[in-house]
Amino acid sequence: MYTLEEVDKDKLPQHVAIIMDGNGRWAKQRGKLRMFGHENGVDAVNQAVENCAKLKIPYLTLYAFSTENWNRPKTEVDTLMRLLVNALKKELKTLTKHNIRLKAIGKIDTLPKKVYKELTEVMSKTENNTGMTLTLALSYGSREEIKTAVQEIAVKVKNNIISPENIDETVINTHLYTHFLPDVDLLIRTSGECRISNFLLWQIAYAELYFIDVFWPDFRESHLVEAIISYQNRERRFGKTSEQLN
Ligand code: FPP
Repeated sequence: MYTLEEVDKDKLPQHVAIIMDGNGRWAKQRGKLRMFGHENGVDAVNQAVENCAKLKIPYLTLYAFSTENWNRPKTEVDTLMRLLVNALKKELKTLTKHNIRLKAIGKIDTLPKKVYKELTEVMSKTENNTGMTLTLALSYGSREEIKTAVQEIAVKVKNNIISPENIDETVINTHLYTHFLPDVDLLIRTSGECRISNFLLWQIAYAELYFIDVFWPDFRESHLVEAIISYQNRERRFGKTSEQLN
């Protein structure tokens, strides 16, 4: 069992992103409805947020609801939305205690009114916090994000605001939902699935990927630390050779 103390504080990933997967299977294993898994998933979210804040990780991004998740049965979507509203209401205290700023990425204007209202309220109440930035990906799809960025840039080209030869990575970055975030350093996915599922495709270009065979509701401090230690033991070469890095 790993503890937070075992993490090397001088080699922290600046941006950790998590695909929280396996709530449904966790519930099924227990003979319960999928909702039960999501409810317990919220506890795992709270712990992951608190632990990342304690470690002083500057950016944590959680994949909470994808554009594809709208296709789930209505009762499940409604439950997820209700859990989200309740979690936002309850977590304002924790966010304040740890000086966490809440942000969101995705088509958040497509969320139910109640969720949108609670989300924007908590974001504005925490916008001046200077600790960790916690970003929730809600109604988020990476291809949709890139498509929107391309459209916005195309309009600027058409209106002579930018010329095609000046479109570089920085210009693209500034048109993505994630314009306020650095690239992802460590991407964790729970549940044993080894897929990216349309999450931050542009932003994970050089991320270290960590797949763990634990369902999200069971994800604890020890698993987070294990992932970070694995990250810290890897050599990130960004296309260079080992010798060049030394
Ligand atoms: C994936 O498990 C999980 C989700 C689609 C939703 C994640 C939501 C939460 C953890 C709760 C609410 C979030 C916050 C931020 C308070 P799955 O349902 O795909 O599981 P399965 O693959 O086993 O079916």
